[in-house]
Formats: sequence, structure tokens, C-alpha cells
Amino acid sequence: MQGMNSTPGIEGVAADDVLAAIDEGPGSMPPGLVSGEDAEAVAAYVENGGE
Ligand code: HEM
Repeated sequence: MQGMNSTPGIEGVAADDVLAAIDEGPGSMPPGLVSGEDAEAVAAYVENGGE
């Protein structure tokens, strides 16, 4: 995934931070979109830059 213009991408954000965001739902982001193993898998995917 490529960042859009000046918008930084989410790639490389630490898995724990991604898990926290998924759990808490910052701002208008809905909390608990994925949970358990699914959340872990998403967090690992983001941390690894989409692989
Ligand atoms: C570190 C990781 C993340 C952070 C800090 C984060 C933060 C946010 C924030 C602040 C918003 C609100 C944006 C706005 O008000 O314009 C948002 C929206 C959203 N996020 Fe995340 N997010 C993260 C990861 C994820 C992941 C991994 C998913 C998917 C599983 C996700 C799904 C969404 C969706 C669907 C919305 C849009 C909600 C809507 O407006 O309908 N986010 N996120």
C-alpha cells in the first residue's frame, strides 16, 4: 500500500499499537472490528508492511 500524497501509511506500525487501535476504536473508528486470532493476524500484517 502506498501512502497518499502527504498522508503517512499505516505500514510498520507496531503490532501492539495496531491491536490497541482495533480494540479501542480511536476517533470515529468502530472498536472491535476484528478480534482474537483475526486481530493478531491483521496486526502482524500491518506491522510487516502488508505481507
Ligand atoms: C495503528 C492502527 C490504527 C489506527 C491508529 C487507526 C485510527 C483510526 C482513526 C483515528 C480513524 C478515524 C478517522 C477519521 O475520523 O477520519 C479510523 C477509522 C477507521 N479505521 Fe482505523 N486505525 C488503525 C487501524 C485499523 C485497522 C487495522 C483497521 C481494519 C481492521 C481499521 C479500520 C478502520 C475503519 C473501517 C475506519 C473508518 C470508520 C468509518 O468512518 O466508517 N483501522 N481509524
